[in-house]
Amino acid sequence: MSAIEVHDLCRQYRVYRKREGVLASIGGLFRREYEIVRAVRNVSFRIEEGEMVAFLGPNGAGKTTTLKLLSGLVVPTSGHATVLGYVPWQRKDAYRRRFSLVTGQKEQLWWDLPAQESFRLHREIYRIPDAEYRRRLDELTDLLEVGRLMARPVRELSLGERMRMELIAALLHRPDVLFLDEPTIGLDVVSQRRVQEFLRYYQREQRITVILTSHYMKDVEALCERAIVINRGQVVHDGQLAAIVDRFSQHKIIDLQFSDGEIPDSLSRYGQILESRLPRVRLQVPRNMVSTCLAEILGENSVDDLSVSERPLEEVIAELFSQPDETCSDGGDP
Ligand SMILES: Nc1ncnc2c1ncn2[C@@H]1O[C@H](COP(=O)(O)OP(=O)(O)O)[C@@H](O)[C@H]1O
Ligand SMILES: [Mg+2]
Repeated sequence: MSAIEVHDLCRQYRVYRKREGVLASIGGLFRREYEIVRAVRNVSFRIEEGEMVAFLGPNGAGKTTTLKLLSGLVVPTSGHATVLGYVPWQRKDAYRRRFSLVTGQKEQLWWDLPAQESFRLHREIYRIPDAEYRRRLDELTDLLEVGRLMARPVRELSLGERMRMELIAALLHRPDVLFLDEPTIGLDVVSQRRVQEFLRYYQREQRITVILTSHYMKDVEALCERAIVINRGQVVHDGQLAAIVDRFSQHKIIDLQFSDGEIPDSLSRYGQILESRLPRVRLQVPRNMVSTCLAEILGENSVDDLSVSERPLEEVIAELFSQPDETCSDGGDP
């Protein structure tokens, strides 16, 4: 049996539509105005013990809903799943001790208390023996370099520091399965890097099974070899991450700010102009053209500011999988 098995999992939501105007509200008396949002549609996959898999897809694709299903926070409309042999939505206490869900948006720490108080509470909840608790806490605190912050109220910590505390809280009871939902969203580059390095080390050391969703290709590339891509609730790719990375890395984004308040006409010869709002321009340029393009632009124009960045992962994913007839090299259903 695989660590995580998902078969034809579906979850739909009923969303009530607001109608405007008097006639509409009278109409509303006679007709129920709702639509069905199929957040997760016939999703199937297996993940082996000790694998770390990226779970990718554009906004609203169904990633969070899938992780909520696997965490037992949401009950499916139909279909089946087991994690470590447990059916998540049966919410067995024994299952709760074996996994953790970390989300970039919601905190499990008490805002007004120092993190160490929340950790103590976890020790009680999970009945972690004292010596064991000390040892794990010291190890995690060291790895994440947050020792000096333990006594500070959580609300005084930066977003990056808080996320590191969230990870400690999630790992204190040594779960075998970890669901990470955008763990680095909104973090500065340094914190993002630190969380990433920690996750890589910890996952290899402990051989835990991880599903990671992230907006950042860097996270995903550093940590995962396999990617499951979901779009409009359906799995559209399950295979090597490299197939996606190749497509992803064909272009870079160049942001320019011209000092003359005038945008040169010649820019379009380097690539696609994504946005042009005087005096700023955003260009998408083939990767191997970046240095030539910069040299020429800087040579011919007066530029106040510039930056070069990767394309947002979700944009690439959306582009790759939005056309129904476009298939990925080793894509398709598993
Ligand atoms: N509680 C909810 N009620 C109604 N619709 C929801 C709810 N949760 C999610 N959805 C809808 O389900 C779809 C998938 O959402 P979600 O799983 O959060 O996507 P993702 O995490 O990939 O951005 C979206 O269309 C979203 O609006
Ligand atoms: Mg989400």
